[in-house]
Amino acid sequence: MTNLAVVGGGVIGLSAAWCAAKAGHDVTVHDPEPARGGASWLAGGMLAPVTEAWPGEEDVLSLGEASLKRWPGFASDLAQEGVAPGLAAHGTLVVAFDSADAGHLDILAGYLHSIGRAAERLTGRETKRLEPGAGSVRSGLHVPGDLAVDNRKLLDALYAACVNHDVRFVRERVETPPDAEAVVLAAGAWTGRLHPQLAGAVRPLKGEILRLKPRRGCLPPPTRTVRAVVEGRPIYLVPRGDQELVLGATQYEAGFDRAVTARGVRELLEGAERVFPAITEYELVETAAGLRAASRDVLPYIGVLDDGVFAATGHHRNGLLMAPVTAAAVVAWLEGEPPPEGVEAASPARLHQKEHV
Ligand code: GLY
Repeated sequence: MTNLAVVGGGVIGLSAAWCAAKAGHDVTVHDPEPARGGASWLAGGMLAPVTEAWPGEEDVLSLGEASLKRWPGFASDLAQEGVAPGLAAHGTLVVAFDSADAGHLDILAGYLHSIGRAAERLTGRETKRLEPGAGSVRSGLHVPGDLAVDNRKLLDALYAACVNHDVRFVRERVETPPDAEAVVLAAGAWTGRLHPQLAGAVRPLKGEILRLKPRRGCLPPPTRTVRAVVEGRPIYLVPRGDQELVLGATQYEAGFDRAVTARGVRELLEGAERVFPAITEYELVETAAGLRAASRDVLPYIGVLDDGVFAATGHHRNGLLMAPVTAAAVVAWLEGEPPPEGVEAASPARLHQKEHV
């Protein structure tokens, strides 16, 4: 049994803490506000590595796919601890407004077919048949297998599971790695302050997110995640049942600023209105901004930094998706086993390589 300190009580820290405690280790989580407050509290919750992937991010895609395979088992183990994390298999619809978007969807469809994933290219009319509330779209791509998770239920479920396994919580901000046999650094955008190797390698990447509710008489939210690129900006609408819609997310560098800007809200609402015009009559119930933990190359840092210190950070847009594989990597490290498939590429050892910019 190892005495493990986890710095960070977001989805990565709590997943690592739960899995390590379940494996028999003695775990303490350090966070002023565990299961609240960080980027995980504001996440969209899409578990969709392919439709989220950007060109040139093949290692990110492989790691995302490896973690996605773990998600159904991870969610059912978590539900057995007492609180269901709200996993939904409602799929994704990506919509195209012009010929450039449509070309991108053709490439995405080809890639999905090549890896054996079901994906259907749809005409504009077929897209509207699938999601009658969609705007004037030229065509669509339906990916029925994509998953999504309710980020707030997930955090509650992880917290409850940690408590079940006697994880201790120290509700304080930590400035230096705590004294313990093993330490996992999972403090999101703040992790760069905790270890010299991560200084400058993890930075905050701001994202604004909105939550809306349909008012009486409004068209209900889409039944699946809908994504698009509007005016060059990616946008997603993720339904939380038929009562709430999460709309995200802006993405820009603003240091540790967490103010919600009028411009951010306007861009999100304008984009969403094109995708799903009925949104203009919805009630806007929450506006918030969070800080993703960005790495230099979009791939997270998962691996040993020093003797007894392990990085689990820099997950960029992919924290929820990559939580199961990251937690498995932490447990493998504690048990002296090799890391799970796909994790090697995310080793922080690449920080020492000159070409890592
Ligand atoms: N994964 C969605 C986002 O970072 O906005």
